[in-house]
Amino acid sequence: MDVELRPLRHEDAPAHCAGEDDATVRWLTGGHGTLAGTRAHFDRLAANAGAGRGKRGFGVWWDDRLAGYVDCDPDNRDGLRPAEPAPVNLSYCVHPWARGHRVAVAAVGLICSYVKEHAIGEVAAIRVEPANTASVRVARRCGFRHRRRYPASHPDGSPATFDLYLLDL
Ligand SMILES: CC(C)(COP(=O)(O)OP(=O)(O)OC[C@H]1O[C@@H](n2cnc3c(N)ncnc32)[C@H](O)[C@@H]1OP(=O)(O)O)[C@@H](O)C(=O)NCCC(=O)NCCS
Repeated sequence: MDVELRPLRHEDAPAHCAGEDDATVRWLTGGHGTLAGTRAHFDRLAANAGAGRGKRGFGVWWDDRLAGYVDCDPDNRDGLRPAEPAPVNLSYCVHPWARGHRVAVAAVGLICSYVKEHAIGEVAAIRVEPANTASVRVARRCGFRHRRRYPASHPDGSPATFDLYLLDL
């Protein structure tokens, strides 16, 4: 299985948007993306990568086909206590056709290596709703340990409960 992370280009936007299903909207984005909004998001990721700050994200290619998305964000403080250092938050999705083949586990492993190699942080975090069993399994399979449960919001703004999982890199 050949899984790679690559920067996202404007021409990847249609495949990226086509890979968004109801599960992605429910658990991650809160709404379907437009092509223009997606290209603007890719531009922000490229600018952040160039500047070495903020959220940095990649497409996940499986055998040369765009199969998902993963990003890392050192600035997310959701669920942390005031003096607590921020772990680097990881977010991800896998397109429906590619699910169930350990693509997410591979992508999380690759973004953890990226975070470490680029000295973005020493601890990674996955924030996940307890009912999102697939993502909870990804976190546990990748070796993340449960840290705490905290009140938060769904991507659409409604109240939710999240679990914070952490991994020392
Ligand atoms: C969560 C998601 C990324 C998993 O992607 P995936 O490539 O199918 O996951 P993997 O194949 O790497 O599976 C990892 C583990 O999850 C388990 N799993 C996958 N889908 C599952 C499901 N629907 N229900 C229960 N377990 C599931 C696998 O069996 C595997 O566990 P194991 O190694 O103990 O057998 C994908 O379902 C998705 O994109 N969901 C929508 C977006 C989302 O929820 N993002 C995360 C927000 S926190």
